[in-house]
Amino acid sequence: MNKIIAANWKMNPGTAAEASALAEGVLNGMTAELRKNTSVILAAPFVYLRDLAMLWERRRERHVVLAAQNMFWAEKGAYTGEISPAMLADSGIRTVIIGHSERRRYGGETDELINQKIIAAFKHKFRVILCVGEQNKDEAFEVLEQEITADLAGVGKAQLQNLMIAYEPIWAIGSGAPDTPQDSAQKMLYIRRLIAKKANAKAAFAVPVLYGGSVTEKNARDFLQEEHIDGVLVGGASLKPQSFLAIIAAGAPEALH
Ligand code: PGA
Repeated sequence: MNKIIAANWKMNPGTAAEASALAEGVLNGMTAELRKNTSVILAAPFVYLRDLAMLWERRRERHVVLAAQNMFWAEKGAYTGEISPAMLADSGIRTVIIGHSERRRYGGETDELINQKIIAAFKHKFRVILCVGEQNKDEAFEVLEQEITADLAGVGKAQLQNLMIAYEPIWAIGSGAPDTPQDSAQKMLYIRRLIAKKANAKAAFAVPVLYGGSVTEKNARDFLQEEHIDGVLVGGASLKPQSFLAIIAAGAPEALH
């Protein structure tokens, strides 16, 4: 499986022109080699997605996948300010981040709400990057068990093939102090055990598990080299094409050996 390198732009950049320039910077730097050997996802703010999807059409971009950073669970109706799965699909978006810790923290998202969103996303055939992770280092395993069990309640085995899980310890996000690759690989294994318990070992190994939290071009290779880390979810360092491209390059097989 190619390593997955996902950008989470969060609430950046400030204008549509900058968003297009950032995306083009990344697309222009994707060599045929990188396209073949890595899987790249860009999660942009809602308001830019339509423009970006048009840019993708114009460039016939098929490799780099555009994603949303959130979605709502209902189909339509009286939900002021929300965006439905069908609206995203209509903009050409089929991948979504759900349950990011910043949405849990600033948007008050509970595991129950996240679970409803995941069920709706799968119903609409989206691929989901579910974010999980602890605030306090010594609670990692408990929090992972609690979040994964609650967030994936009622999700069937067949749907797991559209799931990716990002382990993002909250203390490592934006802090410049990432988890160690070895310790995060332990969490990945634990996540797989939880999925195996829910479904089976085959499903557990088929779900890509990503690490997120202060990944940079300097440390990306250390994470991507770990056998149990299938990719990275990158915030701050995804906002400059050169640094994000360097992280993508760190996931190509020739960089890893
Ligand atoms: P960071 O963010 O790379 O800026 O730490 C990662 C994330 O929150 O997804």
